[in-house]
Amino acid sequence: MEVHWNRRRFLTAAAVLGAAGLGLALRPRDRGANHASYYADLGKALDRAGRARPTLVVDRQRLLANADVLRRHLEGRHDYRVVAKSLPSLPLIEAVMQRTGTDRLMVFHQPFLNLIAEALPGTDVLLGKPMPVAAAARFYDQHDGGAFDASRQLQWLIDSDERLRQYRQLAQQRNLPMRVSLEIDVGLHRGGLTHVEMLSEVLGVIEADPLLSFSGFMGYEPHVVKIPGIIGGPPRAFEKAQTRYQDFVDAAEEILGRSVRDLVLNAAGSPTYQLYDGDEPANELSAGSGLVKPADFDLATLADHEPAAFIATPVIKALSTTKVPGLEPLAGVMAWLNPNRAKAFFIYGGYWKAVPESPAGLSINPIYGHSTNQEMLNGSASIDLRPDDWVFLRPTQSEQVFLQFGDIAVYDGGEIVEHWPVFAEGA
Ligand SMILES: Cc1ncc(COP(=O)(O)O)c(C=O)c1O
Repeated sequence: MEVHWNRRRFLTAAAVLGAAGLGLALRPRDRGANHASYYADLGKALDRAGRARPTLVVDRQRLLANADVLRRHLEGRHDYRVVAKSLPSLPLIEAVMQRTGTDRLMVFHQPFLNLIAEALPGTDVLLGKPMPVAAAARFYDQHDGGAFDASRQLQWLIDSDERLRQYRQLAQQRNLPMRVSLEIDVGLHRGGLTHVEMLSEVLGVIEADPLLSFSGFMGYEPHVVKIPGIIGGPPRAFEKAQTRYQDFVDAAEEILGRSVRDLVLNAAGSPTYQLYDGDEPANELSAGSGLVKPADFDLATLADHEPAAFIATPVIKALSTTKVPGLEPLAGVMAWLNPNRAKAFFIYGGYWKAVPESPAGLSINPIYGHSTNQEMLNGSASIDLRPDDWVFLRPTQSEQVFLQFGDIAVYDGGEIVEHWPVFAEGA
């Protein structure tokens, strides 16, 4: 009896020790650390600039360094088109245009198209997605003429025969000369012309109308970098995209009986632009996000670009214990199981498309959930954040996130030196 009891006790103790050992083995290490000097300095600059609310910061030197990297890769072989939606601020776009020496923009949104036509009248604009014809009509309604000559400087994007006929009607109704570029599907399968056989009809309509002119192709292939190795990986997908592009170019030349190499043959985006070496049909490449490198662009093909955009936001409350309503008795156990959940920091705002960046080791509490007002971030006891200190996050994308904070705070030489307005939408 006694032996039996002892054995049970022994087994129980072994089980408890085993579970504790397993817990210890699986327990994440303390990943917390205070701000490295880059972020500590940026926080001081924001304080000196009197900022005390969620702020989108662009590091101008990093932005310009990314622009230089891009220019080096293009090596003069390709023209460069700035993807305006990914850098949605006129001074930001102008900084990139100036540094890369381009006047070409890709635009995706009618209100921003009107803004650009008015504020940057010297630009050459290609639409990045086909607009409903009513949005195109609205562009002309709102465009007061000015120095931007849409008949020369604007290329509408057309993805189907049907849309082309709608645009032709608009052109005829208003007697508007229009340049049209054709969206071609080179593997992304986001629409556009899918077969070269579709070209003769479409080009026939364009050629037959003196108001319309064919200005080139747009074939976008960001899927290339996501293709797993087991089905050939990026090299094979890239090659396939180029073959498809070439097929469209060859077919167009055959139908038109002339070369189209002098037209705009647009391709790429940040994830793929570095794959181009000049042997492809495209003569210009577009990129935007890579200039500020949001977290979704941490890709092997952008390894030489640096993150240049951050959300800075003040800590409102710093609590030494993380308490989840209803689970208060477990606070100690949860902090023991994961030391990176020991402390709770409530930040000003939150729930952006962004990931915590500094101090190191911050994360969202999956049980407590999100808040756009005061979001809880957890961190380890190694982090000494106090109320009014800064937390930095990296946007995962730029196009929408940049529009949520008012003017961009431009960081350069250790100070916030300028404030750049972001795009605003009218009616
Ligand atoms: C047609 C087209 N080209 C290029 C891009 C690349 O933009 P980014 O460099 O910001 O990824 C995009 C992004 O959506 C796009 O839709």
